[in-house]
Amino acid sequence: MAALPTGVTIVAASGADGPAGATANAVSSLSIEPMLMLACLDRGSRTLLAVQAADRFGISVLHAGQEDIARGFATKAPVPEKWAGVAWSERDGIPAIDGALAWIACDLRDVIAAGDHVIVTGEVRALETSAGDPLVFHQGEYRPLH
Ligand SMILES: Cc1cc2nc3c(=O)[nH]c(=O)nc-3n(C[C@H](O)[C@H](O)[C@H](O)COP(=O)(O)O)c2cc1C
Repeated sequence: MAALPTGVTIVAASGADGPAGATANAVSSLSIEPMLMLACLDRGSRTLLAVQAADRFGISVLHAGQEDIARGFATKAPVPEKWAGVAWSERDGIPAIDGALAWIACDLRDVIAAGDHVIVTGEVRALETSAGDPLVFHQGEYRPLH
């Protein structure tokens, strides 16, 4: 699947200990009516635990200039460290990365075990978009669209 270029997102949720978030490209639209999204998260993802605890999650679609954020959220650094220096805000208890191309806020709907990952689906409750180019991931590298 390295052959398939994707956008790059940060899937995030807020809990009692603050926000948790992970870089994720196994993210997709799922249904129009009702409006559903899906994300596939590793069973060992701390963000998955936060999503389940919060019962809601956000998907921030990264802008072309946000490669450092993608790299930072793809680590197993202590969760609070991942947010240090990152501009973000919270709406309805759901974290959003500032400057992202899109932010999709979801209420958790289904949690489906699938091998070593878990498919989470979410009903879209809020949506924000802005203009610009996306960050692209292809053949294991972050690339500009052009
Ligand atoms: C480009 C890219 C895409 C990724 N996509 C996913 C994904 O869709 N699902 C996932 O579980 N992990 C994905 N990862 C790996 C997670 O970001 C990584 O395991 C992270 O450390 C999880 O953090 P957490 O334990 O704090 O949730 C991806 C990593 C990169 C670099």
